Amino acid sequence: DPELVAKGEKTFKKCKACHQVGENAKSKTGPILNGIVGAPAGHAEGFRYSKAMKAAAEDGLVWDEAELAAFLAKPKKYMKGTKMSFAGLKKDSDIEAVIAYLQSYSR
Ligand code: HEM
Repeated sequence: DPELVAKGEKTFKKCKACHQVGENAKSKTGPILNGIVGAPAGHAEGFRYSKAMKAAAEDGLVWDEAELAAFLAKPKKYMKGTKMSFAGLKKDSDIEAVIAYLQSYSR
């Protein structure tokens, strides 16, 4: 849905301080997010994840839409010890939109 993706692009402004997507994207404060929907957690090459994210990755966490939605609503509550310093997205509609936006960027 192109309208949802466009809405998600606006929501992603809240993420851009730390994350990049697209052709020339790199990991910065946060890991690169190309192809993140459906991907195993904690796998951006060269990025130094928290112990919490590494443990979740070892436990087999995959960022399907449900896991992403729960993480983005309340990162610190979802994953105790994550170093993602972001309060979370309050509106389900913003979460849905930002996931659609991320889904438009494959690896
Ligand atoms: C991790 C998404 C906002 C910093 C992640 C991951 C996702 C994500 C999906 C897991 C990546 C992976 O497993 O490779 C988002 C979205 C945001 C957002 C959609 C906006 C709605 C932010 C902001 C910051 C940030 C504003 C910085 C203040 C980080 C860091 C990690 C991370 C440091 C690694 C966490 C760890 O190792 O525990 N983010 N993020 N993110 N994000 Fe964000």
